[in-house]
Amino acid sequence: MPRKLYIETFGCQMNEYDSDKMRDVLKASHGMEVTDDPEKADVLLLNTCSIREKAQEKVFSQLGRWRPIKAKRPGVVIGVGGCVASQEGKNLQARASFVDIVFGPQTLHRLPGLLDDVLRDNHPVIDISFPAIEKFDALPEPRAEGPKAFVSAIEGCSKRCTFCVVPYTRGKEVSRPLNDVVAEVAALAGQGVREINLLGQNVNAYRGTTADGRHADFSRLLQHVAAIEGIDRLRFTTSHPIQFYDRLIEAYAGTPQLVDYLHLPVQSGSDRILARMNRGHTRERYLQIIRKLRDVRPHISISSDFIIGFPGETDEDFEETMALIETVGFDQSFSFIYSPRPGTPASEMKDDVPLAVKKERLKRLQAHINKMAAYISKSMVNTVQTVLVEGLSKKNSLQLCGRTENNRVVNFTAHPKLIGHFVDVTITDALPNSLRGHLIDGSVDRLFENLPKQHTA
Ligand code: SAH
Ligand code: F3S
Repeated sequence: MPRKLYIETFGCQMNEYDSDKMRDVLKASHGMEVTDDPEKADVLLLNTCSIREKAQEKVFSQLGRWRPIKAKRPGVVIGVGGCVASQEGKNLQARASFVDIVFGPQTLHRLPGLLDDVLRDNHPVIDISFPAIEKFDALPEPRAEGPKAFVSAIEGCSKRCTFCVVPYTRGKEVSRPLNDVVAEVAALAGQGVREINLLGQNVNAYRGTTADGRHADFSRLLQHVAAIEGIDRLRFTTSHPIQFYDRLIEAYAGTPQLVDYLHLPVQSGSDRILARMNRGHTRERYLQIIRKLRDVRPHISISSDFIIGFPGETDEDFEETMALIETVGFDQSFSFIYSPRPGTPASEMKDDVPLAVKKERLKRLQAHINKMAAYISKSMVNTVQTVLVEGLSKKNSLQLCGRTENNRVVNFTAHPKLIGHFVDVTITDALPNSLRGHLIDGSVDRLFENLPKQHTA
């Protein structure tokens, strides 16, 4: 009977979430425990990402590293899941014949059965289908690890940006029923979770059903989750400008649990490029969302994703992106050089921007955003920030660390009993990757007085 499981995860938060679920199903079905040493594992799983070419290349080099493990111990089972598995299917086993299981993002709950098949027949298996929402019904109760947790609200993507593989690897948008999401959050809250990050490729496209068969949009879901006792901080990843309706902006006014931080990918500041990307919105529509949000949340931090050197991006297009960055004043963001993905419409477009130009643009963009993010960090010095204490500080175990609403790590000296609680901290220093602060005495969970007993220090 296999006992030890090793999971290597590449890619987005959705993949991190899926890997946790793989661990949960195999614990429930086979009593497997996670090890952090692949040499000791009976089952090795690789959760893959195909968003850019580099991510995809990593998969085969990782498999190359696992090959000798299988040669030494032929009983070891190797499985590949995630977006590369979904896209490559059988080809994957053709390229790496020692892979026993190929499974997709929507079939990870079938891992126990797939594993049994391999163990019984000693024959490779593959299941990369999209069986709608059955996955969630088959998953065991979530297990909290610390005060923060991710909960999937909607899977897949139906948007079809011309550069993106996600609609092909993860299938169409499918929302979980409202009560299922709420029940999962409540179960996590019962285990001490204080911060929930609702997940979806386009989480604000959420359109679930209530118990009496009515539709519930994303702002309804936020209200329900915010009402759960113990959940005092609410984030979501990733939202899309298309379904950023006024109702969602109004939720910011009425829901204090929603953080003063929003990740809203824009990709480009040029209308011409946005149209070629099939993003479904203009630069002005994006700015309008930001203006309305800042009317209700003047201090909100906005972060984004940018693609540099999309086919046909001229100097003028790029300057429009730089100008948009200046106008919005983005916080720490993600930016990538365009990577053609097989099967996407953009991969058929003429990619006429030289690599050296793309690299130069990326450098300029990143330097500008880093400067603005550093400015935001500096402006936080001498302010009081609410911090969710996550654990001991990485560099100094006499200190604690946690995060502010706008996602900055803060290190400060305090008693470890505060882990899992909200505290107020005065920020004293802004360093390049973190902040330092002083605990304000007696500030534990000050903002949230109606907490159940186990949550108060
Ligand atoms: N659902 C999210 C994004 C998912 S992919 C959204 O609505 O935008 C995460 C990021 O990867 C994207 O925002 C984009 O900036 C980047 N990305 C996706 N495909 C890419 C490609 N082919 N080349 C470069 N970057 C890409
Ligand atoms: Fe990809 Fe666009 Fe969907 S970036 S995940 S196709 S919204």
